Amino acid sequence: MKVAVLGGGPAGLYFAISLKLRDASHEVTVYERNKPDDTFGWGVVLSAETLENLTRNDPVSATWIKRYFAYWDDIAVIHKGVRTLSTGHGFCGIGRKRLLLLLQRRARELKINLNFETEISDPKPFMETHDLVVAADGLNSRARTAFADVFKPDIDVRKCKFVWLGTHQKFDDAFTFIFEHTEHGWVWAHAYQFDQDTATFIIECSEETWERFGFGGMSQQESIAVCEKIFAKHLGGHPLMTNASHIRGSAWINFPRVLCERWSYKNLALMGDAAASAHFSIGSGTKLALESAVALADYVESEPDLEAAFRKYEDARRTEVLKLQSAARNSLEWFEDVERYFELDPVQFNYSLLTRSQRISHENLRLRDPEWLGDAEAWFHRRAGSRDNLRRAPMFAPFRLRDMELKNRVVVSPMAQYKAVDGCPTDWHFAHYAERAKGGAGLLYIEMTCVSPEGRISPGCPGFYAPEHEIAWKRLVDFVHAETEAKICAQIGHSGPKGSTRVGWEEDNAPLPSGNWPVMAASAVPWSPQNQVPKAMDRADMDMVREQFIISAEMAARCGFDMLEIHAAHGYLLSSFITPLTNLRTDKYGGSLENRMRYPLEIFHAVRAAWPAEKPVSMRISANDWVGIEGVTPAEAVTIARMLHDAGVDICDVSAGQTSIRAQPVYGRMFQTPFSDRIRNEVGMATMAVGNIFEPDHVNSILMAGRADLVALARPHLSDPYWTLHAAVQLGDREVKWPNPYLPGRNQAYRLAERNATMGLKV
Ligand SMILES: Cc1cc2nc3c(=O)[nH]c(=O)nc-3n(C[C@H](O)[C@H](O)[C@H](O)COP(=O)(O)OP(=O)(O)OC[C@H]3O[C@@H](n4cnc5c(N)ncnc54)[C@H](O)[C@@H]3O)c2cc1C
Ligand SMILES: Cc1cc2nc3c(=O)[nH]c(=O)nc-3n(C[C@H](O)[C@H](O)[C@H](O)COP(=O)(O)O)c2cc1C
Repeated sequence: MKVAVLGGGPAGLYFAISLKLRDASHEVTVYERNKPDDTFGWGVVLSAETLENLTRNDPVSATWIKRYFAYWDDIAVIHKGVRTLSTGHGFCGIGRKRLLLLLQRRARELKINLNFETEISDPKPFMETHDLVVAADGLNSRARTAFADVFKPDIDVRKCKFVWLGTHQKFDDAFTFIFEHTEHGWVWAHAYQFDQDTATFIIECSEETWERFGFGGMSQQESIAVCEKIFAKHLGGHPLMTNASHIRGSAWINFPRVLCERWSYKNLALMGDAAASAHFSIGSGTKLALESAVALADYVESEPDLEAAFRKYEDARRTEVLKLQSAARNSLEWFEDVERYFELDPVQFNYSLLTRSQRISHENLRLRDPEWLGDAEAWFHRRAGSRDNLRRAPMFAPFRLRDMELKNRVVVSPMAQYKAVDGCPTDWHFAHYAERAKGGAGLLYIEMTCVSPEGRISPGCPGFYAPEHEIAWKRLVDFVHAETEAKICAQIGHSGPKGSTRVGWEEDNAPLPSGNWPVMAASAVPWSPQNQVPKAMDRADMDMVREQFIISAEMAARCGFDMLEIHAAHGYLLSSFITPLTNLRTDKYGGSLENRMRYPLEIFHAVRAAWPAEKPVSMRISANDWVGIEGVTPAEAVTIARMLHDAGVDICDVSAGQTSIRAQPVYGRMFQTPFSDRIRNEVGMATMAVGNIFEPDHVNSILMAGRADLVALARPHLSDPYWTLHAAVQLGDREVKWPNPYLPGRNQAYRLAERNATMGLKV
């Protein structure tokens, strides 16, 4: 086969090598616009796993590369003048120039034609004269642009500015992150050693800070002089260096995240940065490039034709690339929003940085550096008021809201049971909630309990509007208080436009086959075309519903509930006021956010006045309508939360969505937690995170990183009422209290867990 490789970076060279190794009869030519030894950039980071892949593919070049590797285990974070060090991270790095020179040498050895100083502006002539063309021409790929209508590139130019520099200052003991506060804002550096006497020094800051410094109008040398001043105390007198003198201007850029719908067209395939880029903060661009090169070489050899090879290449690599890009997105967003975290204590700031990509979990950190993690846990417990130096998982730290003292941070999220009769909870509710109260969580919610018969979602929803409701709920609350250490929270709400619908396991939010009752909402906007058109509430309706909320709060208080939550999420009545998607009012309750929040806040103030002063009140909100800027966005949710905080709401229960059938939620592990993180750290109020959080590891990392104060789990508590007790067994934590009659079960559970652990089985 006659093969042209456009671009002699890591992807292009390594593909050429890998293909030749599989079949030496191929005629392979690499076209590179630069000279052999004027490759720009500094060090690249590779993982042990990538090294193994390289060794399997070509032991010769892998051995050469390994010889030049700089290894380091530690990560140092310098923040507020404090240097925090953790170990066990295992990186290795090599100079980009060194790597390319070694790959060029190997390519020559394998009789690959290397054409330097050859700029390729159009891939089409190559496609006509060659059997296979691989476009590995980097981030700004000309080949990708030439067929943009086929590849459909999606290029997301990110917010921060960065510049890639080097220095002879030693950073050989740790990958070092340095955060410096300047008169123009925060500037930070990612520094790592890649050979005997050189380290990469990437400097990054927000666009606003960059503007204030005026970096855009500076030459590279001027900009470097300013950076040397900013980081003077970390550079030990060593200058910062650029090797991008071919670039005009200051060489600062915004990172472009590249994603393409397709990676191949006819006989041309995209590879490396040309196809997909990964932010430098997770150091995986070169890894992606090299591993994609191996995959394509494999399939070109194993498949009968190029079409099949390209199909397999895309199938195999796309998932890997998307996974890394997702981790890279989390990581780059952390840096974009880093100013939000500067108020955190250095311990928590460090933890937040280490777990930013969400690839490293709490237990993963324990494996890397048990000492450091133990100290961090002790810090967390000290702050939470646990006894001194307690090294327990953060989920077992107490939490206080007003006079309510929770024994731990796990919450059983509210979940409708649809088992009430005429609004009255039944034995089902008693048995269901009593089990979960015994299960070890610090706080147990009852489901949305409705303030009126018309405010129910379905005929199976419970209420707080008749004396028998109060009797039934009080029986449960008394049991929980007498037999367990859990606290219990009543969630009160009104279904609004989503009322008069079937029970959950029939058809969610579908109207009843018969016996529908009239519904009301902020505006006459139905939930879906098949739902009733609600009545737009007038002032009399608003007064009536406010009175109903007060009566329900008073009932909950008499029952002895420890906490009250007002449900203002998920498209129900109060949520229908907050989201502009369903609030079309033109009076003082519609339009601006201040107006849309007016009625929900009125309800809060009325409820707060009726609820015992020593007990907390929470509000649950949908922090994202998932419809873009037409609805509530995570940024607007911060303003909503600030209004709640100012009004005296004790904690914001941060849910999302279910406010529009047009929503396009992006699901994933802990997918709503970023909204809680943002509210907690921008507003400075207590938050509860919820949504696809199902492992103890998730709970601990959310708490330890300061992304929420409490963590609610819903569905995991349906499949396991004793989720918290079982989490303690899994973590080997023996301080959790089990109900006395269950002690023999506890003893067996710990014994089995220990036995499994010694046999290397998952607990
Ligand atoms: C200037 C630069 C410096 C970098 N420095 C670092 C670093 O220090 N550390 C790190 O971890 N990552 C660095 N990266 C990013 C990382 O190296 C990439 O993710 C990785 O190199 C991807 O490999 P690639 O072969 O796909 O692309 P690249 O490494 O970008 O290679 C593409 C090659 O194609 C050549 N090329 C582009 N257009 C044409 C054309 N029209 N005709 C002929 N040749 C062309 C380029 O000169 C380049 O050699 C750098 C990237 C660049 C572009
Ligand atoms: C069966 C079921 C019923 C629910 N009922 C309520 C409810 O009454 N009030 C509420 O605010 N959220 C309700 N939710 C949402 C949950 O509280 C939680 O926010 C959501 O399920 C995401 O958490 P998870 O991923 O842990 O399940 C319900 C969820 C489920 C699965």
